[in-house]
Amino acid sequence: MNGQGKTFYITTPIYYPSDKLHIGHSYCTVATDVMARYKRMQGFDVLFLTGTDEHGQKIEQKAEAAGVTPQQYVDQVVAGIKELWKLLNISNDRFIRTTDSYHQESVQKIFKTLYDKGYIYKGSYKGKYCTPCESFWTESQLKDGKCPDCGREVIDAEEEAYFFKLSAFADRLVKLYEENPLFMEPQSRLNEMVNNFIKPGLEDLCVSRTSFKWGIPVTFDPKHVVYVWVDALSNYITALGYGNEQYHDFEKYWPADVHFVGKEIMRFHTIIWPAMLMALDLPLPKKVYGHGWLLLEGGKMSKSKGNVVDPVVLVERYGVDAIRYFLLREFPFGSDGLFSNESLITRINADLANDLGNLVSRSAAMVGKYFDGTLPAERHAEPLDDEVIAIAKSLKQNYETQMEAFAFQNALIEIFKLVSRTNKYIDETAPWVLAKDEANRPRLASVLYNLLECVRIAGILLTPFMPSTAPKIFEQIGADAGITNYESAGTYGLLPADVAVHKGEGLFPRIDVAKELAALEASKEKAVEKAPKGEKKSVPAKKEQPQPAEGVASLITIDDFAKVQLRVAKVTACEPVPKADKLLRLQLDDGSGTPRQVVSGIHPWYEPDDLMGKKVIVVANLKPAKLRGVESNGMILAADAGENEVKVIFVDASVPCGSVVR
Ligand code: ME8
Ligand code: MG
Repeated sequence: MNGQGKTFYITTPIYYPSDKLHIGHSYCTVATDVMARYKRMQGFDVLFLTGTDEHGQKIEQKAEAAGVTPQQYVDQVVAGIKELWKLLNISNDRFIRTTDSYHQESVQKIFKTLYDKGYIYKGSYKGKYCTPCESFWTESQLKDGKCPDCGREVIDAEEEAYFFKLSAFADRLVKLYEENPLFMEPQSRLNEMVNNFIKPGLEDLCVSRTSFKWGIPVTFDPKHVVYVWVDALSNYITALGYGNEQYHDFEKYWPADVHFVGKEIMRFHTIIWPAMLMALDLPLPKKVYGHGWLLLEGGKMSKSKGNVVDPVVLVERYGVDAIRYFLLREFPFGSDGLFSNESLITRINADLANDLGNLVSRSAAMVGKYFDGTLPAERHAEPLDDEVIAIAKSLKQNYETQMEAFAFQNALIEIFKLVSRTNKYIDETAPWVLAKDEANRPRLASVLYNLLECVRIAGILLTPFMPSTAPKIFEQIGADAGITNYESAGTYGLLPADVAVHKGEGLFPRIDVAKELAALEASKEKAVEKAPKGEKKSVPAKKEQPQPAEGVASLITIDDFAKVQLRVAKVTACEPVPKADKLLRLQLDDGSGTPRQVVSGIHPWYEPDDLMGKKVIVVANLKPAKLRGVESNGMILAADAGENEVKVIFVDASVPCGSVVR
């Protein structure tokens, strides 16, 4: 076996807990899963790591706006991410959260080691400062020269910060790329990195922040938190136990065999990450593969346009294996691809319902019909069989060549060459004609046996892509576990001569294109109507070019919605929270007789007087949270009225306190 006694360590990026993951995020994770399953099938001892990247100012702000603590915020989103991976049948061996204490401990050690070795030094970070917001901004973050949060004037300022001596690694990085031309793939990414980042000169990297708190504190200077990318990249080794006692297999699995990442984060993985490892005197990953983006028809995706793609909706409608297959069959892994519902449905119908599904069901059905489900041992081969058998015999090798190059699309094309050729073989041999003459029974048995063998071999190699369909295929053609392992795809004729089939359900029902397209359109419209109100829209791109998918709310049932208790409440007291410029502390009369205290991140837009005596809507059954040490029981509803505009939803004064909103 190829992998016996060898390890294979593969990773996905760790995902930001943005509110929902979309089909683009799923793309990378599904690809990684297919590779991990393929390597396991080859006998490798695989470690497949994924996780979440949970620190940073953005999360802190989102949590504040949602009226929960950052930890509560990420806990909830991460639970959803784990559910999505379960739905997509992702077989990760570990899931790391950057908020896990063992990871934080390791990152602190890494930072200290780099400092002790002189690769991190203290300096100052020049930028723009918004005094009321206590926030640092770079020139490019400003909006019309003003603070992007509150729109007020900013001043030139300097902030003390730690820097990583990235500039010192330029030569070693160039040497790395020259000596290991396969360090980054596809090859096109190499020029991009060298021309855009290395040649113009590498600058030292600011690796600490003091302007917010939601991060890993620097042990020897705790008002600083570690820059999120240093925190995030370290996950690939902390998850193996580097610098902690949680795991003990750093020696076993490091260096990684491959990091799969999207193309826009290639530079972090091929410049900063190897430089960090060089500074730590650790081996470098063997390869970083930068895959392309999924784009959507109609160019930039946005909720208002409604052109968003929710993987949950697709899996619920077409099944997980159809979606996994489509993602890897439709687009070459290294390039961008245009996603459309039409291409999805067309692909499912053509490849899965027609080619594969029909082949499996016809093969099993004919053995059932002509031989009562069990083939007789007597055979008669003919030269007509040679071509299809030859394709089946060489498939494993051709497939392997493509898989080793991460060319998932080509690997699937190879499999489907066999599937199509086998379907053609049915037409050529016309078993229904053979069946008419008793004298042809040995010939008919040969033909049907060849069909089953071709299905068996295709099924084995499809297993990493379609882990729930493959066992159903094996069951239908009567292939036992002993002849469905990877090695056995390389040998023709392993099914027993008297194989017995078990006719099952159709694997992939044919989809009515027009009906489905209409249904998907309708589900998008609903999703747009129900898009959560308090959610920030992304900054529009300067150029009108296709953008990676943004998520949309997956649909919820009326029962889900009913879990949220909304009540009308009157603001009876309101004051700023000391030392937290965005927060207001509100006392509400929610009709219960007991005053309710809520902390809300709306001070940039409202002064206490604007709210006093007004009626608002409060989420009454939200778990209590502490914001800057102040207890908050629920949150009040507000709308994002513009890029940086928040409007509280006020209710008519005549509505009694405590009224249910639904
Ligand atoms: O970048 N098509 O996290 P992230 C294909 N936390 N891939 C897409 C995509 C699309 N439309 N949209 C996103 C981060 N992705 C960091 C990573 S790793 C130490 C830290 C991919 O949640 C994207 O390219 O923004 C990236 O590889 C991954 O999803 C996670 O993106
Ligand atoms: Mg991103």
